[in-house]
Amino acid sequence: MHILLTGGAGYIGSHTIIELDKAGHSVYVVDNLSNSNPEALRRVAKIIGKEVPFVEADVRDRKAMDALFEANRFDAVIHFAGLKSVGESVAMPLEYYENNMNATFVLLDVMRRHNCKNIIFSSSATVYGEPAVIPITEECPKGHCTNPYGQTKSMLEEVLMDLQRADKAWNVVLLRYFNPIGAHPVGTIGENPNGIPNNLMPYITQTAVGMRKELGVFGDDYDTPDGTGVRDYIHVCDLASGHVAALQAIQKNCGLAIYNLGTGHGYSVLDVVKAFIKVNGVDVPYVIKPRRPGDIATCYCNPAKAKAELGWEAKYGIEEMCRDSWNWQKRNPKGY
Ligand code: NAD
Ligand code: UFG
Repeated sequence: MHILLTGGAGYIGSHTIIELDKAGHSVYVVDNLSNSNPEALRRVAKIIGKEVPFVEADVRDRKAMDALFEANRFDAVIHFAGLKSVGESVAMPLEYYENNMNATFVLLDVMRRHNCKNIIFSSSATVYGEPAVIPITEECPKGHCTNPYGQTKSMLEEVLMDLQRADKAWNVVLLRYFNPIGAHPVGTIGENPNGIPNNLMPYITQTAVGMRKELGVFGDDYDTPDGTGVRDYIHVCDLASGHVAALQAIQKNCGLAIYNLGTGHGYSVLDVVKAFIKVNGVDVPYVIKPRRPGDIATCYCNPAKAKAELGWEAKYGIEEMCRDSWNWQKRNPKGY
């Protein structure tokens, strides 16, 4: 299939290009580079041994998107483009709502007018809010999102479901990602956060490499085995291959389909820190800090539906995730 990746220069998109290429699909990337570096695409090109067709454009730019669809016949779109920082979204709600909602509205309208009605949407475990059941299945009711970022994911899921309900020609796959970490094993591409990282793994790797003094562990009094927050970390290459599997669902005219993409294993903050130290033989100094507002104690999924229906399951374990995150960081201490 010929696939358009919006936001394809970013962390998950760049890894997904490689898996799509391996599976024999051709790709085209549109990205406004607001949170990415074109060097990522040059490095992906080296890995796959061919150029990655790319246009620098904003998905909200209707003219540019129209031109792209005029010039290409896409079989499906994987819609990664969006702003994704929880904390920033609380401080800049209007920017988050405006970017994430409008980009999707423009994209869907342009797709419709060019009769491309197959879309995979990057959703998030955040839509479950404080989960009603653990492990989380896709039937688990959506919850209250405590931040504008999460609200955009939840609302856009509704928009996509309404669209598919109204026009059965659409195939819509909502992929609810759990916590992607790791990097491609070659170590030339990876997560490249701007400024001080918000997320656990980049904070760990930047501490290990000496850019940060110590990791703050946000709370050790949760109702979890060691008191620190438990999450379902998934290797970004596994997450990437989940998109290839989702395309198979689209090829079978799945209509609306929703999948959790996680491993089904929960690891605490201290589990991750210990695994990282053990696998990589480097120190990660840490201090216990107060809880971070909006955090929940435990979030991990039951990934059985994706296995049963897509034949997809995560292959990498926490040790490989820690190894590959460190491999990327130590080879690229300043990112791209
Ligand atoms: P990322 O920031 O690395 O990639 C997103 C890309 O979208 C960036 O390259 C950015 O420049 C681009 N972009 C943003 N707004 C755009 C616009 N209006 N037009 C064109 N390009 C635009 O993030 P990522 O980690 O690769 O995440 C990809 C998707 O997955 C996002 O939608 C994110 O919300 C979602 N997601 C990420 C996580 C995570 O922990 N990384 C978890 C759940 C869901
Ligand atoms: N944590 C720390 N110290 C840090 C950073 C994080 O202790 O410096 C802890 C958090 O309190 C939490 C765990 O590490 O217990 C994971 O935190 P992350 O910020 O890495 O990830 P979150 O689970 O909070 O959220 C991430 C993405 C969201 C996405 C969600 C999906 O940031 O965009 O996963 O589950 F929606």
